[in-house]
Amino acid sequence: MPPWAPCVLITGASSGIGAACAQRFLAEGWTVAALARRTGPLELLAAAHPGRVLPLAADVTQVAGVRGAVERVRAWRQHSDLHAALDAVVHAAGDFLVAPMERTSAAEFERIWRLTVWAKFYLTRELLPLLWAPGPAPPRAVVHLASLAAHTDFPDETAYTSAMHGVLGLARAQDAELRARGIRVSVVSPGLVRTPLTERHFPAAALEHALPPGAIADSLFGLVRTIRAGGYIGEIFHTPGEAPRSAAPVLQKQ
Ligand SMILES: NC(=O)c1ccc[n+]([C@@H]2O[C@H](COP(=O)([O-])OP(=O)(O)OC[C@H]3O[C@@H](n4cnc5c(N)ncnc54)[C@H](OP(=O)(O)O)[C@@H]3O)[C@@H](O)[C@H]2O)c1
Repeated sequence: MPPWAPCVLITGASSGIGAACAQRFLAEGWTVAALARRTGPLELLAAAHPGRVLPLAADVTQVAGVRGAVERVRAWRQHSDLHAALDAVVHAAGDFLVAPMERTSAAEFERIWRLTVWAKFYLTRELLPLLWAPGPAPPRAVVHLASLAAHTDFPDETAYTSAMHGVLGLARAQDAELRARGIRVSVVSPGLVRTPLTERHFPAAALEHALPPGAIADSLFGLVRTIRAGGYIGEIFHTPGEAPRSAAPVLQKQ
């Protein structure tokens, strides 16, 4: 693989939306650092694309796991000394929790927030040295998977819905801080998508009109392409039965 091929790190790459994103970026000629806890699906992906995939077994909720993964990406990309080692990051690792408040333990609430918000903060922070570009380079893109839940008040989803609202705030704050340094941070907020996650939580009938994960990967790849071309979209909504649409721009401090 030529050292100038763009490189993306994707979390949650062993399943669902993250796995579809990995396939999409590979189809577009990118190299992929594919992160998840289960190694099996990542090794299969690497075997199918020799030299183009770095399988990264790590838990994004653990400091040591994140640091170890970042070190492995740094070593893998050490030849890329003329431009940023990483061109994009997609945070798709996540989980869902449906439970009324009185049955949501403090530990469960904390687990969902740690996976949904803290991991997006901490992994991005640790990756910053790999996202800096020493010379002229296209803007780098960081994309967080949020959810329609970030804009709704679904009952019995206090932990999940509040954490998804947190993802929007995190992305806005990160983008405000990093845009002057050539890094843009955006969000994709899907409605129902048919993945192993939703197949575990919803009856088959509820998923009849759910989006395929490849549709979210398309939106997400388009967002990264827009950012690399110098444009910016803060958030893309993608709900079943509707074309993807962008959110109103956020007021930006000069
Ligand atoms: N599916 C939907 O309808 C939908 C809609 C809106 C938003 N979303 C959001 O999109 C994201 C992806 O959802 P999905 O439906 O694709 O789920 P999924 O099929 O269950 O995939 C989740 C991925 O996250 C990884 N993961 C979970 N915990 C992790 C951890 N601690 N460390 C590292 N990796 C971890 C899993 O891999 P391992 O188990 O191998 O670690 C898996 O690859 C989630 O944040 C979800 O809330 C989904």
